[in-house]
Amino acid sequence: MYSLTIALAKGRILADVEALWRQSGWPWPNGERQLWFPPSEERPGVVVARGPDIPKLVERGIASFGIVGRDVLEEQADADILEVLDLDIAPCRMVLASLDAQWPEGPARVASKYPEVTRRYFRRNAHPVEVVGLSGSLELAPHIGLAPYIVDIVQTGRTLRQHGLQEVATVFHSTARLIANPAAWRRGGESEHLYDKLRAVVEERADVSHRGGFR
Ligand code: PRP
Repeated sequence: MYSLTIALAKGRILADVEALWRQSGWPWPNGERQLWFPPSEERPGVVVARGPDIPKLVERGIASFGIVGRDVLEEQADADILEVLDLDIAPCRMVLASLDAQWPEGPARVASKYPEVTRRYFRRNAHPVEVVGLSGSLELAPHIGLAPYIVDIVQTGRTLRQHGLQEVATVFHSTARLIANPAAWRRGGESEHLYDKLRAVVEERADVSHRGGFR
């Protein structure tokens, strides 16, 4: 019988998480639009929430673990959580993009859902920046005169292409990460068991891909 809960980010990464979850031998909790599944005999509990809310759920111990993209963790760098495992799934990149692929000449005006990531990136490059915080549809910003640059996630590249945008630079590469509540992690026991199980699957997949198999 399991007693711990894992918070999963909905959206882009959930299909990859489901594959990993099934490979670990846990049944995938099914339920039309249901977002909370208590722990059961066969698997840990599951909470499905928006990516940016996952660190908060783990920080507060609502879930002992969370699975979320590095993009979210970079944006919420002060969250009191432990990043314990790179799950090596849901790969994507954080990029700086614009209509003409040129590095900004003067101070850069950049629209992003990731204001902290954007500020840090330009600070590291010693380049002045004004960040326009948006919650979505970033690709519109250069077309409507809101900001000539965006910092956003690129997975297939389709969204950028569809909007005539080009990559200027890669800010970082991202994959999904397993994060843990510090107190639950220190207690060990079941949390150690969950971690070992997921790590074994990640290692098994890495092995298969090194041998030239499919992932
Ligand atoms: C991200 C990002 C782009 C899209 C890029 O949004 O903001 O819109 O994915 O993917 P692509 O390169 O495959 O086209 P996401 O789907 O995570 O949705 P969100 O706006 O709800 O965060």
